[in-house]
Amino acid sequence: MQKQKQCALLFLAALLLLLQTVNAKSDAEAVEAAPEVVAAATHANLNDKVKVFTVATEPTDGYRRYIRSANVYDIEVTTLGLGEEWKGGDMSKAGGGFKINLLRQAIEPLKDAQDTIILFSDSYDVIISATLAEIVEKFKESGAKLLFSAEKFCWPDLKLTDQYPEVEGKASRFLNSGAFMGYAPQVYALLEEPIEDTADDQLYYTKVFLDEAKRAKLEMKLDTQSRLFQNLHGAKNDVKLQVDLDSNQGTLQNINFMTTPAIIHGNGLSKIELNAYGNYLAKTFNDVCLVCQENLLDLDESKLPIITLTIMVPQAVPFFDMFLANIEKLNYPKDHMHLFMYSAVPLHDELIKSYAEQQGKQYASAKYVLSTDQIDERAGRQLALDKAIMQHSDYIFSVDGDAHIDDEEVLRELLRHNKQFVAPLFSKYHELWSNFWGALSDGGFYARSHDYVDIVKRDLIGIFNVPHVTSIYLIKHSAFDVIKYEHRDFDPDMAMCASLRNAGVFMYLSNQRYHGHLVNADNFNTTVARPDFYTLLSNRYDWTIKYIHPNYSLQLNESYVLPQPCPDVYWLQIVTDAFCDDLVAILENYGRWSDGSNKDTRLEGGYEAVPTRDIHMRQVGLDALYLKFLQMFVRPLQERVFTGYYHNPPRSLMNFMVRYRPDEQPSLRPHHDSSTYTINIAMNSVGVDYEGGGCHFLRYNCSVTQTKKGWMLMHPGRLTHYHEGLLVTNGTRYIMVSFIDP
Ligand SMILES: *[C@@H]1O[C@H](CO)[C@@H](O)[C@H](O)[C@H]1NC(C)=O
Ligand SMILES: *[C@@H]1O[C@H](CO)[C@@H](O)[C@H](O)[C@H]1NC(C)=O
Ligand SMILES: *[C@@H]1O[C@H](CO)[C@@H](O)[C@H](O)[C@H]1NC(C)=O
Ligand SMILES: *[C@@H]1O[C@H](CO)[C@@H](O)[C@H](O)[C@H]1NC(C)=O
Ligand SMILES: *[C@@H]1O[C@H](CO)[C@@H](O)[C@H](O)[C@H]1NC(C)=O
Repeated sequence: MQKQKQCALLFLAALLLLLQTVNAKSDAEAVEAAPEVVAAATHANLNDKVKVFTVATEPTDGYRRYIRSANVYDIEVTTLGLGEEWKGGDMSKAGGGFKINLLRQAIEPLKDAQDTIILFSDSYDVIISATLAEIVEKFKESGAKLLFSAEKFCWPDLKLTDQYPEVEGKASRFLNSGAFMGYAPQVYALLEEPIEDTADDQLYYTKVFLDEAKRAKLEMKLDTQSRLFQNLHGAKNDVKLQVDLDSNQGTLQNINFMTTPAIIHGNGLSKIELNAYGNYLAKTFNDVCLVCQENLLDLDESKLPIITLTIMVPQAVPFFDMFLANIEKLNYPKDHMHLFMYSAVPLHDELIKSYAEQQGKQYASAKYVLSTDQIDERAGRQLALDKAIMQHSDYIFSVDGDAHIDDEEVLRELLRHNKQFVAPLFSKYHELWSNFWGALSDGGFYARSHDYVDIVKRDLIGIFNVPHVTSIYLIKHSAFDVIKYEHRDFDPDMAMCASLRNAGVFMYLSNQRYHGHLVNADNFNTTVARPDFYTLLSNRYDWTIKYIHPNYSLQLNESYVLPQPCPDVYWLQIVTDAFCDDLVAILENYGRWSDGSNKDTRLEGGYEAVPTRDIHMRQVGLDALYLKFLQMFVRPLQERVFTGYYHNPPRSLMNFMVRYRPDEQPSLRPHHDSSTYTINIAMNSVGVDYEGGGCHFLRYNCSVTQTKKGWMLMHPGRLTHYHEGLLVTNGTRYIMVSFIDP
């Protein structure tokens, strides 16, 4: 295939050159088009003249990235050792002689080819970021016959430091074996001496270099100014990633020498930096994200992967009922999912248990662990992993209780990416808090990256290799074995990410689609009854969904006709059943209803002319929240119905729930409210929870008796709307009343 393409290109080039000579004067377009085609032809030639080798025993994520970068620049690579057992020892200590032995064998046929150039580099931690033509040019400019990359550290034998030639300024003095380039005879001569597979390759090359006679004979040099190669370890301040604002394409510059190295090596501890640069190098973008389109998988509906769906709730989270409703809606056959649910929170045990026992029947299997089982988060996550391995699942889809899925396609979308590890971007509404880190601090904790804000705000859309992900992610079985939750200093999330990083499994984060969001569990007070109700200010979005009537905003439309059961009494859809049920439960749990007498110590004067059995919002710590509720949701409706009256924020000294019961206080005598306008929200249902009741407006001889749960009556206060509470004959009636702008 590749060869055919080259021949075709050569043929085309020849044809065009011919055309050019024939038509040189008349056809300007052909002249314009020609150089590109000729350049392509040169490329093809270069692949014949320059042999690119790497060693990789496994096709790791890093290897795939390297090969992709080579493909992007039409560079043909020969991979040595693929599929073989690695015999080169532990590379984090020393080793790599194996690489030398593989390379020697591979280039033996080329040993006399004086025109052939060999480029060797590692692959797991290398990215090519230039064409072969540029690479060859940089090599030739060096004047060396054998050019090695250089780094800042003398490794593995520090004692050799003084034997190295001095370098100026910020140049790199020491040889690094991760990448080198040379003419075939010189490279072959370099590899002359035998070496054990497990001996250190860098030391081997270093000894040749430090032998002045050999160095001279091989015309061997180090690329001390990073003209061709950039080793990143210890070079954080030497390089700068330049990302073009229009194309989002990146180049890495060495700012000490203003060079643009073509082969970038994340040696030693600099793998995370390489990963970050790699998000922009080698044409991952061209305005839009190109790498996002590559290697996508079409799901075969007849052979869908088996998933272990892991629901983890290590800490209390608001809106857990909504979380589970979204899990239930995931578009994926439940008989292809094993469900594992973990709770360390008494508050959530009941919902977990009932979900696992009820909906769990639809899943391939369902298991749950509750807080009473006393399994800590680390062990809980390990248990989930063990289950997935035992179940021979193809993937683990792990979702924490704070990650609310809003897109039921999320699992399928993630599967399509076909990665070992991929996560959707989830963030808190209107906050920069998200489920990933763009960079790590030296201690392995959070650090902000240059692109963090753009990714969270989705100003930059793509797929990014990041060092830390939490809350929601998909892991392929090939990565199960490397995951470790145990760690002396790290929490289980950090431990997992560290183990994936150490194993070279890339954690990809995609923000190509909006899939969901994080709820805010900060300061979530679980000691109160119905704690979700208290979180309006910290979780405005979810609070609104749970507690504000779904038809609320329709009513703000001028053309929506609002019912008026009595003159200037408006009837409005304001809150959900959950609002009513939770608020009644909060107040009944508090339980200290007033005694209905005129003496009321909660009031400034201590006297109530028209007393009711009630509880004030202030008594249950909800006054501030309720005022916010009035401002956010009641005021816009008021402005629609009583045109021209504008008080923001609304003031209200009295926000209270009234309880009517036949045996307690069954009705309320006629009275005026001391308000500009009054709202009265029905908290339960006539005919279901009670009989009788309602509100009678005397001036109009008009009653509203069929009140509806979650609907609000809004009427003027102190002059026209003299009214009474009608007799409740059975059951208990609750209403929530505010006297606004007294
Ligand atoms: C939680 O609510 C209780 C009851 O209202 C209150 O006493 C306590 O101070 C609150 N705790 C926090 C951390 O806000
Ligand atoms: C919302 O209003 C429509 C009519 O406008 C009604 O059919 C629907 O039931 C309402 N939704 C709820 C939840 O009450
Ligand atoms: C208001 O309602 C009308 C009629 O239903 C509709 O055509 C219009 O789009 C609505 N306006 C807004 C802003 O929703
Ligand atoms: C009030 O209305 C009721 C019917 O709804 C009627 O029976 C009654 O006579 C009216 N009272 C007055 C004072 O108009
Ligand atoms: C009150 O309601 C209960 C059930 O809701 C019913 O059993 C009972 O008969 C009712 N009592 C009266 C006096 O209507």
